[in-house]
Amino acid sequence: MQALKEKLDQTVAYIHSIKKCSPKVGVVLGSGLGDFVEKMENKTIISYNDIPHFKKVTVQGHDGKLILGTVNGVEVAALQGRFHLYEGHDMADVVYPIRVLHKLGIDTVVLTNAAGGVNLGYKPGDLVILTDQINFTGRNPLMGPNDESMGPRFPDMGHAFNQELIDTLGKVSADLKIKTQQGVYMGVLGPTYETPAEIKMFRILGGDVVGMSTVHEVIIANHIGLKVCGISCVTNMGAGIIDQKLKHEDIKDEALKVMDNFTALLNNAIAKF
Ligand code: 6GU
Repeated sequence: MQALKEKLDQTVAYIHSIKKCSPKVGVVLGSGLGDFVEKMENKTIISYNDIPHFKKVTVQGHDGKLILGTVNGVEVAALQGRFHLYEGHDMADVVYPIRVLHKLGIDTVVLTNAAGGVNLGYKPGDLVILTDQINFTGRNPLMGPNDESMGPRFPDMGHAFNQELIDTLGKVSADLKIKTQQGVYMGVLGPTYETPAEIKMFRILGGDVVGMSTVHEVIIANHIGLKVCGISCVTNMGAGIIDQKLKHEDIKDEALKVMDNFTALLNNAIAKF
């Protein structure tokens, strides 16, 4: 098998052959949160299908593009579409894009996702600034031999989400009068949504939102020394919380409203990271 470093060199060489770039901030966009890209400037768009060692994205509504550009004058590399374990991808492929962003030179990564509300005080449309996570997937991307040149064997996860970035996101959202929550992301494998009993368990365990991504990216990003922050968009409440089924129209309206806030928050915060 080809060494990881060799693969990364080839991937980055390809990206640099399309555009010489040195992004400071990386952004991983969750499903439905791609609108952020519309506000980026000086864009170069590269399809995952063209990038050496990137897997193809299969889930509908997940795009599969790397977008290089600027946001408020800050060089940004945005990943639109991610690889999930539930699709059958290998763990190494799930976290590979984070390694590529790191190799491109970012020092900060913003991980975003659509998530289910577990905290009874949340409602669909809420934006949640992540303060911590619970990796409930039973899997860890650092299993196996450790490359000491990349990071330590036993990485500290005591500050997995960078406090300064959390504070900046909080301050910027207050300035913009955008209401945000702060909470803990519970990461599960999927692809099933939870049963009501599981959602109740996650609440008891300390989860505020639940989703099928992000936790492994957070681990890898911490391992290689990136500053990490995360934003969840609550698209729906977890099973058993709301009796009534939400109407599709309501959810779409909610998503559009949130999208403006999400993009405004991220755009303004990136200038201050
Ligand atoms: Cl309710 N559960 C999980 N696992 N992922 C989600 C979700 C729920 N809602 C959006 N993504």
